[in-house]
Parts: sequence; structure tokens; C-alpha cells
Amino acid sequence: MSKIKLYGGGTLPIEMHRVSTVHPIRLIPVEERVAALDEAGNCSYNLKSEDVFIDMLTDSGFNAMSDAQAGAFHLADFAYAGSESYYRMADKVREILGKDYFLPVHQGRACEHMLAKAFVKQGDLIPTNFHFCTFQTQTRLQGGDLVEFLQDKGLVTGGDDGFKGDYDVEKLEAFLSSTARERVPLVRIEAGTNLIGGQPISLDNINAVSETAHRHGIRVLLDMSLVMDNLHFIKTRDKKRAGLSVRAIMREMADAADIIYFSGRKLGFARGGGICMNDEADFKRVRALVSCYEGFPTFGGMSSAELEVMRQGFDDTMDENVISQGPDFIEYMVEEFKKRGVPVVTPAGGLGCHLDADRFCAHLGRREFRGAALAAAIYIVSGVRGMERGLSSEKHEDSIAPFELVRLAVPRRVYTLSHIKYVIDRVTWLYEHREMIGAMRWEEEIEGDHLFTDFLRPVGDWREKLAAEYKKTGLED
Ligand code: F0G
Repeated sequence: MSKIKLYGGGTLPIEMHRVSTVHPIRLIPVEERVAALDEAGNCSYNLKSEDVFIDMLTDSGFNAMSDAQAGAFHLADFAYAGSESYYRMADKVREILGKDYFLPVHQGRACEHMLAKAFVKQGDLIPTNFHFCTFQTQTRLQGGDLVEFLQDKGLVTGGDDGFKGDYDVEKLEAFLSSTARERVPLVRIEAGTNLIGGQPISLDNINAVSETAHRHGIRVLLDMSLVMDNLHFIKTRDKKRAGLSVRAIMREMADAADIIYFSGRKLGFARGGGICMNDEADFKRVRALVSCYEGFPTFGGMSSAELEVMRQGFDDTMDENVISQGPDFIEYMVEEFKKRGVPVVTPAGGLGCHLDADRFCAHLGRREFRGAALAAAIYIVSGVRGMERGLSSEKHEDSIAPFELVRLAVPRRVYTLSHIKYVIDRVTWLYEHREMIGAMRWEEEIEGDHLFTDFLRPVGDWREKLAAEYKKTGLED
């Protein structure tokens, strides 16, 4: 139970834990927030954490640990080779995911680096439900590219379809039946699907993609970075699976894949990543690369202490009360925003509440950085740091990003409902003053596909005017 029914009607998401270690936060004055933005090139990634009141940039490596995880930290065996911590984690992978081989690396993109180096060559094409920027970059660095097979429903920010991350399996089948087949070393599934608003993929769809790929003799690669939320959505939205345990759902999903990888900064509530598989030849191929680029294969790019934390994090993930906390808070935000007319991606997905910047800032042009401008404006009126998901982070200067979103991530167990209510209040104020949000333009584009460190310049002095208008409300007096 993570949502309680209220005597007065309705429900309330409730934290199924108590807090024992805390980190102080502070709200700097609004003028200082504008100055901090200047220093950060108006890019929320470049803000200093100490200047951020509520940090909703990401949940990556920023989820709170459980007491069991804090305890596991001290079990670490720091042996260079053959560490007990490695074998305990490998056993946990075998128990939960049913994969015999496990390789730790320093984070999700390191998995992608190793896998792209092992399996992708010049001219290759990797089908996927939707791209994730780091995987796309690693694939392109090897001379390959991604081909997206997301169903049309996934590209709509509104609506109420519960599984917007689903593949168009018919299109995949047609593609693999064509001459393109020769260029496909892997079929990738992202569960859940980050860049369309953390939307889940259904288990039936995963199984159908897997069956299709296997019929064509192709390996299935499953990105489980956002699987925690996806598990919760299968459990709550898929009637066929409602009676299954989280563990059983996880296993059915894992069985559909030949190779699984994940950002341990998300799955496992730690700071690391992992690659899991059953094929010995594939394992040896990837292990050689891990050894070359990450570290000795029994620690890869990770500290043994973090391996222990990740192992306990896998156990914690099997608990419905743990995996429902993020999605329940996100759903609360989405429903409150809907009541107030603030445009959000629906239905509520995982990872965070996604504001639809295309509708929020419809008065701005599609090349005027609606998402980045909105993220900057939110920081000015609240000290809250969100993440732009659009033109700037997608590096689509010559084209139009598929979406302009601002993600307000909900790191698990980090913020309470009062933080969430504050965010809703300030974003609502901003929505009612949205015409004051102005455009941005490139100041400096840093080389590389996925650095999130662009510098943007506001067009005119709209930020100062917005700060002055907000100050007049007296809300911070
Ligand atoms: N795959 C998915 C689906 C992700 O969401 C991420 C990271 C990665 C791979 C890469 O993992 O950051 O550990 O290297 N997503 C982070 C986010 C950046 O905030 O959405 P990483």
C-alpha cells in the first residue's frame, strides 16, 4: 500500500518509510537565481547544486539509500581480483534476472560503450522503440545508427494509453524481412522509455518483439535502466499480470532478452552499471572490453562498496512499496497540474513529471528553445531544477526535436509531499504568467552528441522582468 484513502474522499500518496539521514537545502534569493543562471549559461545542468532548492534534474545516482543498503556498503571486499562483493552481485543477477554472466561498469553509458564496441560495425542499424541519447551516441561512434519503431501513440504527449513505449511489431517484422536484416546485429528494447516521458512498455509487447527478433536470428538487447517504474506499471496497468509478484514480472521480462544492461544509478539505487547475459562467447567478448576500458572485470568501473549497495538495491526493487513511491508521487503531480490546466505528458509515466513545453510556451517558436526557456523560468520562480528535454539536449539545431519537454524528476525517497506541493504551486504561478517566458538562442554549442553543457543566451531581458514580477508577489518575503 502506498496510496491511502482519505476519510474526506480521494487518495494520498504516502511514504512507506521513515527518514533517518537528511541533507539541508536552501533557497537563494530570486536575484541570485538569475545570476546563477547567467553563470550556468542558462543550462540547468551547469547550475551548482548548492544554488538549487529542490533538485529535480534527475534521479540518476540521487535516489535515497535504504538502511539495508547503508549496511551493505560496509560488507565491501575491495580485493582487486575475485572480490566477494562481485560474486554476491553476480549471484543476485542470476537469482533475479536469470543470467549467468555479469559485468560491472561505471554507469549506464559505459555498458552502451562496451556493447556498441562489441556488436556494432560501420553501416549497422539497431531497431529500438525509441532512442536514448547516450546509446545513440555510442552506436554512431561505431558507425551505426538507430531506427525507431515506436507506435504512433508514443509520440503524442496527451492521451491515456498505459503503455506508450510499445513497439510497432508489424513494422519491425517488415523491416527484418527486408534486405536491411543483414545490417541488424541487435534489437534494442528500452523499458521504460525515457525520452517520451518515462512511458512504460507492456510485457506482451516485449515478448512479441523478442519472438520477432529471435525468429530472424537476432539478439535482443534490453535496457533496464528505468525498469523499476516499468515493473510498477505492468503490475498496476496490465490486468493479465496483476496477480504476479514483482519478481515474476521482472523474470518474464528478463527471459525475453539475450543481453540486459542498466544504469545502476537508477536500477539498484547505487552509482554504477551492469551488463548481464547467458551466452559465454558474448560474455568473453564484452569482458575483454571491460577489462580494457573500465577496470578488472570483477569490479569493472565500480567500487566494491557500490556493488554491495546495488545488490541490496536489487532486493529492494522487488518490493512494491519501494517501486511505487516514484510513480505515485509523479501521478499526484500530473493530476494536480491537470486540475490547474498546466500542460503535462499523460498518463503519468516514470522518472518524473514531464511538462509539455510545446503547449506551455506555445507563444514561442519551435526553434526558440521552449523547453530550455521553461526550465530556466521554473528555476527563477522556485529554485527548482528540472531538465530540458528538447532542442538543446537533443542537439537538433537543424531540425526540430520530436518534443519540447521539461522533466521534473522525482528521485526516490528524497523529497516529501510538501516539496512536491511547493513545486506544483510555483509552476502554476508561472503557467499563469507564461507569456513572460521569452526565447533562448545558442551561445556556444559544445562538440559531441550528449554533453548537456550548452550555453544559451536569453533573447532580451525577459528573465529579469519575470524575476521582478515574481518578487512583487511577496511569496518569498
Ligand atoms: N539508458 C536509459 C534509459 C537512461 O535513462 C540512461 C540515463 C542511460 C541509459 C545512461 O545511463 O546516465 O548511468 O550513463 N539517464 C539519465 C537521466 C541521464 O537522467 O535520464 P548513465
